[in-house]
Amino acid sequence: MVRRETWATRVGFILAAIGSAVGLGNIWRFPFQTADNGGAAFLIVYLIAVIAIGLPALLAEFVIGRRANINAIEAFRRINYSRWSFAGAIGVLASFWTLSYYSVVGGWVIRFVYGFASGAVLEMPSSYFTDVAATGVDAVALHAVFMGITILIVALGVEKGIELATKFMVPAIVVLLLGLAAYAFTLPGAAEGYQYYLSPDVGAIVADAPSVIPAAVGQALFSLSVGFSVMITYASYLSGDDNLGTDGLSIAIANTFIGVLAGAVVFPLLFAAGIQPGGDLVGSGGGAGAVFVGVTTALANLAPTAARVVGVIFFGTVLIAALSSSISLLEAVVSYLVDNRGVARAPTAAGLGVVIFLLGIPSAMSLEWLGWFDGIAVSLLLPITVVLVVFFVGWVLGPEAVDEIRRGTRGGGSLPTAWLWWVRTVLLLAIVGVLLLNLNDIFLTPESGYYIVPGPLR
Ligand code: ALA
Repeated sequence: MVRRETWATRVGFILAAIGSAVGLGNIWRFPFQTADNGGAAFLIVYLIAVIAIGLPALLAEFVIGRRANINAIEAFRRINYSRWSFAGAIGVLASFWTLSYYSVVGGWVIRFVYGFASGAVLEMPSSYFTDVAATGVDAVALHAVFMGITILIVALGVEKGIELATKFMVPAIVVLLLGLAAYAFTLPGAAEGYQYYLSPDVGAIVADAPSVIPAAVGQALFSLSVGFSVMITYASYLSGDDNLGTDGLSIAIANTFIGVLAGAVVFPLLFAAGIQPGGDLVGSGGGAGAVFVGVTTALANLAPTAARVVGVIFFGTVLIAALSSSISLLEAVVSYLVDNRGVARAPTAAGLGVVIFLLGIPSAMSLEWLGWFDGIAVSLLLPITVVLVVFFVGWVLGPEAVDEIRRGTRGGGSLPTAWLWWVRTVLLLAIVGVLLLNLNDIFLTPESGYYIVPGPLR
């Protein structure tokens, strides 16, 4: 039997996990979620959701992955709870499902990189997204290109593909975003952007809690790649006794830092150009196009050469971030077939990539379908997986999970036990509550038709 791959270094694992976390969620999804859910108020609830829900749930996935050292579906069997394999399977389904439309958005990003390089975007800044990029044959073709690059990296393997790629990608994202944030800082009118982003209206949080809280929790899970079985898979390639707690904390801090940094680029750019962020931006086709149209319209106010350079750097950064996440979504699915069916990695990655590409075609043909796929992933698949994983780790694995967290620490004091009780109580109740609110939204509210019939992204 072929030896199962592992990460070459601990830093390699951490960077791969940060690469998975940092993606379109931070730069594409986050700004319009913030804009649609009360600006800075959303940021606060999101930060609380990352600390109280995202991070402890991330550790729960790490515990399963490292304890089992096998893919997310088989993992439960390996640690003697085979009846729970379906929890891993729903997470794998979430990865499969999400990658189908994620790759369509990745295709748009490629289109904007070369649209800025050629200058074509700047000739029609507010209509380029809906008229040229968003849907149609070209969108399908670029979705194929994005998927092709994702397949290539995954086909190269855990160490020579994912680890090597993310070792370059993550530092590049940070450096490029820092440069862009410094540039955005110099723009006249940028202050208004920071103000919008950083001064919360607490009243808005209270008034809209039933919609703001689930949106923030969904965003926290999506952004940390929790609920996709990705972090179970990545932790399963760990060979040593790393300290899972500090690794998880580093990943959550890096992801939040990069997310906030992306906001510190996008919002000043928009405000400097007098653009109000929000899903109703002209030509944006709802939230899905907000960042594309907003940033492009903002850049169109600059001198043409500056606009092209900044546009290529901005969308180039988004592309790197998107790829470092899409490879993790594909890996979560590939690892099951490689481990369990003994099929070679490259043809598995290619075959699955083609199926996922086909599933993404409706999203590449219509923004309504893309919104529907995103809604199902974030409102249903992710919270369902997390409820199951959290219940399993808290109440089924229990003390064994604490032992796993203690491995690689000098005991860890009382923190691992506190984590277990948090997972068993607050985290479990919170995530069940979010799932119930989502189910209510989907099936019982007047606009529930949204999820049954495709509608714009929200
Ligand atoms: N965590 C990935 C993202 O934020 C899926 O884009």
